[in-house]
Amino acid sequence: MTTLIFMSNSETTTVHVDLGQRSYDIAIVSGALASIAEQIGPWGERLGGWPTTGRKAAIVTDVNVQPHAEAVQHSLASDGWNTELIVIASGEQSKSLGVMSDLYDRMVAMQADRRTLVVAVGGGVVGDAAGFLAATYARGVPFVQVPTTLLADVDSSVGGKTGINHPQAKNLIGSFHQPLGVFIDTDALGTLPDREYRSGLAEVVKYGVILDAEFFAYLENNIDGLNDRDPEVLRYAIARSCRLKADVVEQDEYETTGLRAVLNYGHTFAHAYEALAGYGELLHGEAVAIGMVDASRLAERRGLVESSITQRQIDLLNAVGLPTTRPDTAAWSADDIIGRMKLDKKTLGGQLRFILPTQLGHVELFNDVPEDDVRAVL
Ligand SMILES: NC(=O)c1ccc[n+]([C@@H]2O[C@H](COP(=O)([O-])OP(=O)(O)OC[C@H]3O[C@@H](n4cnc5c(N)ncnc54)[C@H](O)[C@@H]3O)[C@@H](O)[C@H]2O)c1
Ligand SMILES: [Zn+2]
Repeated sequence: MTTLIFMSNSETTTVHVDLGQRSYDIAIVSGALASIAEQIGPWGERLGGWPTTGRKAAIVTDVNVQPHAEAVQHSLASDGWNTELIVIASGEQSKSLGVMSDLYDRMVAMQADRRTLVVAVGGGVVGDAAGFLAATYARGVPFVQVPTTLLADVDSSVGGKTGINHPQAKNLIGSFHQPLGVFIDTDALGTLPDREYRSGLAEVVKYGVILDAEFFAYLENNIDGLNDRDPEVLRYAIARSCRLKADVVEQDEYETTGLRAVLNYGHTFAHAYEALAGYGELLHGEAVAIGMVDASRLAERRGLVESSITQRQIDLLNAVGLPTTRPDTAAWSADDIIGRMKLDKKTLGGQLRFILPTQLGHVELFNDVPEDDVRAVL
């Protein structure tokens, strides 16, 4: 059967993630969701090819993303897949054992087997939950990610971490499960609410600060394109971000060498702010934006960088509509904040750890930052 492919911006940018037998591609396109089946075909080669008959796909999405998931479903169905659309509620609460139980039930009802493909169409919540479903159903089934938030494009869909929350702790139950491929269509961001979009930009800026000064300068020079969600600027910014995260993941796939810690720049502060604000009040990226500025100030105080490095981050973050100071309404004391930091699961034995820049494009892990310096920054 012939499929008519319409691509408003026909280039595909590909980022290859090299993880030996678990290697895969991230394909970045604009306006080509309807042609996803063509891309998924070759991705089956890692499994020795898709079955010629009876190919099944479970497409997991949330209510806000359903139209994009239907486009994916349509493409797969026209290519001969038997598809099942599974729609979960939106929001962090869906990363729960209750929702997982429903997902397993749906897989059983569709008689899913070990070759059934799970496709996640959505933000980090859908990606993490559907990824965990794929990691655990029948001891692991093939998985493809179709991220639809900027955060999912540049962060949660790269690296193979999947999982759900325990009522007492976020992301406590999970597994590493690398996808067969990731298909990013920048047009999907067209429906994303403004705050969610800007929140994702914080992670994009983060990659520039921690790993790539040239990329940081590119972002400074393309503020209009970023604010207007220009497809070409987005394709480049997403591809570069994915490449930079993939470079780290390739060297520390299972988070054992400590290298992945550089990705947590700004996050020691951010996690404390998110927790103090009450989850959802301050979006993750907003907290990260503020946290990066605080971490950079801490680096200044430790004599690691000049104040101009902090200023460039403030200017760029503000230019893309992100906050760089704690909310006026937040009456958190330094004790509240430091207390929260010590509860963070990434704090080892009560010792505060910070990822701090030593120049633009380079960060290091510091275990020996005196609490007084943190207090002074706060
Ligand atoms: N696995 C990882 O490595 C990793 C990394 C970072 C974050 N995460 C996880 O990611 C989650 C956060 O992801 P997120 O920020 O994408 O949140 P999300 O998945 O909750 O999406 C944010 C909101 O946007 C909506 N939405 C998504 N795409 C849309 C679109 N195209 N148009 C309109 N609405 C859309 C969603 O329904 C939701 O309401 C957290 O659970 C976090 O733990 C995982
Ligand atoms: Zn983050």
